[in-house]
Amino acid sequence: MKKLLTVLVALLMVLCLAGCGAKEEEAAGPKEVNIGVCIYQFNDNFMTLYREEIAKYFDALSNDEVKYNVEIVDGKNDAATQTEQINTFIAKGVDALIVNMVQPSTIEAVEDAAEEAGIPVVFINREPAEAEAHQYGANQCYVGAKAQESGTYQGMIVYDLPNHGDLNGNGKVDYVMIMGDVNNTDAQYRTEYSIKYLTDNGVEVNKLLEQTGNWDQAQGQEIAANALSNFGAEIDVIFCNNDGMALGAYQSIVAAGREVGKDIYLLGVDALDECVEMVNAGTMTGTVLNDAVGQATACCDAVVGFLAGEDVETYQYVPYVMVTKD
Ligand code: GAL
Repeated sequence: MKKLLTVLVALLMVLCLAGCGAKEEEAAGPKEVNIGVCIYQFNDNFMTLYREEIAKYFDALSNDEVKYNVEIVDGKNDAATQTEQINTFIAKGVDALIVNMVQPSTIEAVEDAAEEAGIPVVFINREPAEAEAHQYGANQCYVGAKAQESGTYQGMIVYDLPNHGDLNGNGKVDYVMIMGDVNNTDAQYRTEYSIKYLTDNGVEVNKLLEQTGNWDQAQGQEIAANALSNFGAEIDVIFCNNDGMALGAYQSIVAAGREVGKDIYLLGVDALDECVEMVNAGTMTGTVLNDAVGQATACCDAVVGFLAGEDVETYQYVPYVMVTKD
């Protein structure tokens, strides 16, 4: 009997050790880091490039020791949808959040919820008004670009033309402004600073139309089509707050039988690949590089910094670059 018991105990010990060993093996995989990424809407050319870069970056960073699981969700340009997505990520206990606000004016609610849950947040691309005065919480920062700069570059491109943009020779630059979404600081600053550069340099301007196209190609096309039929040859320049809308405007320019560089000028921002090609081909007057790769890199570096407990700079602005045919 005693012998049998000894054998049984020994057997149990062996089984237990084998079990523990198996567990250890399971736990020996890479450390998993979960990152929730909330994009204001997937249907946006620039933010598509941006989110692809974020995914690529964390992919490249994953190795045998640490695996970054990146879940990217579409806010569909709807604040309620985005709030729900953020709350779900917080409830799941993600390690970090990257948030591209649908409605930057409600940023504080996100900051508070994340801070309470102890989750670091990197806000990207869409800033609240009074951006520099905005106080972020601990383990929170903003990564973007100074939209004033991009507007100034658009104005500079037009000013640098031999006629300073006055194609029809009536002594002023008659322009159409196709805006991004009006509540967005990028749209406001680009609209203001493109024109400011011209007027600061003594160029007279005449606003024929200013209308919002919500960063959207189809809306850009429609606004430009109406403007071209209402103002015809009066229009010297069509400024678009982004390349997506400029692509739409270009379709209408062609449909109206006008020729960029010859009888109308067309400006955008973002430097999408197809627009850079158009600039080089002369079918777009100029654009401004909104550096998706640079911003995505800074954003991911900030996440990694927070997770490592490092100090991360609170306001990070990646420079814009002027793009013209050289
Ligand atoms: C801007 C960009 C636009 C659009 C917008 C969304 O920075 O130039 O194309 O993506 O952000 O807020």
